[in-house]
Amino acid sequence: MSLPFKIRVISTLYRSILKPILFKRDPENVHDTMMRIGSTLGHHRITQFITHTLFFFEHPVLEQTVAGIHFRNPIGLAAGFDKNAQLTNILPDVGFGFEEIGSVTGEPCSGNARPRLWRLPEEKSLRVYYGLKNDGAENIAKRLRLSRLHEEGAGGWSVPIGISIAKTNCAATAETPAAIVDYVKAYLAFEEIGDYVTINISCPNAFGGQPFTDAARLDQLLSAIDAVRDVRPIFLKLSPDLSETELHALAEVALAHHVDGLITSNLTKQHAHGDGGLSGKAVEAQSIAHLTYLRKTFGNKFILIACGGVFSAEDAYKRIRLGASLIQLITGMIFEGPQLIGEINRGLVELLKRDGFEFITDIIGIDVK
Ligand SMILES: Cc1cc2nc3c(=O)[nH]c(=O)nc-3n(C[C@H](O)[C@H](O)[C@H](O)COP(=O)(O)O)c2cc1C
Repeated sequence: MSLPFKIRVISTLYRSILKPILFKRDPENVHDTMMRIGSTLGHHRITQFITHTLFFFEHPVLEQTVAGIHFRNPIGLAAGFDKNAQLTNILPDVGFGFEEIGSVTGEPCSGNARPRLWRLPEEKSLRVYYGLKNDGAENIAKRLRLSRLHEEGAGGWSVPIGISIAKTNCAATAETPAAIVDYVKAYLAFEEIGDYVTINISCPNAFGGQPFTDAARLDQLLSAIDAVRDVRPIFLKLSPDLSETELHALAEVALAHHVDGLITSNLTKQHAHGDGGLSGKAVEAQSIAHLTYLRKTFGNKFILIACGGVFSAEDAYKRIRLGASLIQLITGMIFEGPQLIGEINRGLVELLKRDGFEFITDIIGIDVK
């Protein structure tokens, strides 16, 4: 793939100098430092401009409207990196087409005890055991409103922002009715802010497990959300560890409610490393299997969002051809560097051209018959 000189320089600097230093330090401390740096960069027009100059890429063939929302490219930051909505004013300049903040829960939560984040370089994965650490729905909604105000002079956020909601990780939400109240509280806190809402029913690290992977309970949860929902699209985020039968049952429940899209997948618990779920290449095969199954079985009844193990333009291209309208990632960016987003988008333009397609929308699902 032909990349501009500046991108090749940044990529080399990241892989040969910065990454070896960062990968020697505690992963959660590095994550926190990146949040502080990103937040500072997003607070000043000059640092936004410099970031934009270094990383930003756009091309009309990548634009599309999904669920009524305009996306300038299909590559988004997955939930879990910007848990507390501190990066909304810088990620568009890095080149992301959208961002999902959270997961946000009804109440603030300090998460599980440390250590709770590990790198698995050989598997190109992370082991995550945060346990839904976040500042809580009301605080984060307030921060998001302020962040939008900051950007208003520049015309508001230039990319869609999704809100990922989950139930607070504590004993008080272990029973289904209390858990549903908690989800609804988080949903309502973000009224009129954010472009779509994702219901995360697949956190592998929370107290009480994943009760809403049971179809009857999911039905109750989605009924409660239906009763309060506004016009914003709703996505549902699924576990990669579901069997085909379980996946099918949950998709049928989603069809009976106002669910516009399915995100496949969250972290996998199918590993022998200890507590937590694995991201990256460890989840890739299962995430692709679910994507393919959902496209084959449900056609375009759902918008599909692929998440898990995307490290290159080829990875993203493959998933779009298998039915994904949008792509989310975290681990690829940590292993390859922040210039990866522009690299993927540039690569997608080249791959489309190589194969004789005009727009990204021309290839969604063409490999699934
Ligand atoms: C550090 C970290 C924290 C995460 N936290 C959340 C979360 O709060 N909510 C969620 O839905 N997914 C969370 N995830 C899962 C990611 O959103 C994504 O589904 C998974 O990492 C697979 O994508 P990837 O291989 O590109 O990282 C987290 C992942 C990582 C690496």
